[in-house]
Amino acid sequence: MIPDNFPKIRPRRLRQSQKIRELFSETRLSSANLILPLFIRPGKNIRKPISSMPGQFQLSIDQAVKEAAECYKLGVRAVIFFGIPAAKDNLGSEAYADDGIIQQAVRAIKSKVPSMTLITDLCFCEYTSHGHCGVVKSGKDPELDNDATLNLIAKTALVQAKAGSDIIAPSGMMDGAVKTIRAALDANGFKDKIIMAYSAKYASSFYGPFRDAAESPPSFGDRKTYQMDFRNSHEALREVELDIREGADIVMVKPALAYLDIVSAVKQKFNVPVAAYNVSGEYAMVKAAAKSGWIDEEKIILEILTSIRRAGADLILTYHAKAIAKKLSA
Ligand code: PBG
Repeated sequence: MIPDNFPKIRPRRLRQSQKIRELFSETRLSSANLILPLFIRPGKNIRKPISSMPGQFQLSIDQAVKEAAECYKLGVRAVIFFGIPAAKDNLGSEAYADDGIIQQAVRAIKSKVPSMTLITDLCFCEYTSHGHCGVVKSGKDPELDNDATLNLIAKTALVQAKAGSDIIAPSGMMDGAVKTIRAALDANGFKDKIIMAYSAKYASSFYGPFRDAAESPPSFGDRKTYQMDFRNSHEALREVELDIREGADIVMVKPALAYLDIVSAVKQKFNVPVAAYNVSGEYAMVKAAAKSGWIDEEKIILEILTSIRRAGADLILTYHAKAIAKKLSA
């Protein structure tokens, strides 16, 4: 029994006013921790709206340079690139061509916005005619040739590094990708290039709008033979552990919102830099509800991004980066 004269415990004391709440806030959202995805397409002076992601565009390189410069001024300090190539083929060869669309974009932005951190997504689904993330052996329950894909991954990492990418981000969920990239980079004078591994990437319906944006839906089957089953969490921890052992500097959990338990478990168990990807479907749902007047868009975005940080993410990849940086700097 608590005696009557016992001091009253009142957690609400710490919430009594804005000034006190500020003093005790545990999580801070800063645009310094946000990464903006950019979709790059060939051509000049193109800003093609992505219908399933209102406010997002496929940009030609000249427009991407402008966008990056603007975002940098607002406080966004990192971008990740996705490419829509001029031509696709069976082996996704534009991904590892010296003059591939992403390599060109990296060079252009590096020269105009040199302080921006440039991250290159390393995957083949945007570049292959079949839309899968690697070399396809058979189309049945699509079987990917893991080790043949690793050769292409090594090639792509080097081409991206040479173009000036600061962080290489393998997103295809091939076994051994991180080890392969680290070895290729180290052997070619790129010891300082950082690897951000999409370690726990789930086969998720939240990627739907992205596949429109990047024009990369698989032409047959789905990605469940390489991306993770959303019923599993121990498996995610095993994937993360392997990537850390193989040399990942940052591990990623993707998507973010339906997977905050995974973000939290990864951070607590391994205490390494963790990124979370607030993916296209999460973005589209907020935009749609806001458009209908059902939610307060800005407040919802701040709450979502803060919750991802609170769960344990150090970095957040988000299409809201520009809008929120504007708000945070205002
Ligand atoms: C490519 C890739 C995807 C996303 C990022 N990189 C799509 C996929 O795996 O199908 C999705 C990002 C998003 O939905 O915002 N492997």
